[in-house]
Amino acid sequence: MAASGVGSNLRNLVERGFNIVAVATNRPSCGAATFSRGRRIPLGELPQKTFGSAELRDIAMRDFFMRHRVELVVDAGYDRVHTKPFLDAFEGRIINIHPSLLPEFGGGMDAVEQAIESGAKATGATVHVVTDAVDAGPILVQEAVPILEGDTVETLRQRIHEAEYRILPVAIGLMEAKLANSSTVG
Ligand code: GRF
Repeated sequence: MAASGVGSNLRNLVERGFNIVAVATNRPSCGAATFSRGRRIPLGELPQKTFGSAELRDIAMRDFFMRHRVELVVDAGYDRVHTKPFLDAFEGRIINIHPSLLPEFGGGMDAVEQAIESGAKATGATVHVVTDAVDAGPILVQEAVPILEGDTVETLRQRIHEAEYRILPVAIGLMEAKLANSSTVG
């Protein structure tokens, strides 16, 4: 998994028994990093300031994940865009969870704020395959979340997170089935 934030999706996957073989972060003080240390999950600490470019950071992340034989990369709250060396190495095997019904409110880290400000009646959560088009790869699973009268960014974010905890495991299951099929062909 690649993460930069609180790490609640990581916690949810671990609690549901998913085998998280490694976590990479660009923010060694984030909640996901602290959780990984506590659970003895191998943690790759890759702060951007220690690398000359995004590509060099991504080469280090690629090599870290390969060493740990990562089969599927899950981006959950990872706040950097993957560059070509990483995308090429894991093509079709990277998924991202985004807190909106894409293509609505894509392209940034403020999708919940955007949804509240828009006056929309609903938003949601999406898991999609990562490509070089930010937040625009093929969609795997979505769940709608109503925006209620009086919702704040915090109350809405909490309900979107609950949807995320449901759909991310479903999306991982879909990817596992897809990858298992493709590896038996040829
Ligand atoms: C999630 O809302 C995810 O959709 C977004 O960042 C948030 C990460 O939450 N990309 P957490 O770190 O898993 O708690």
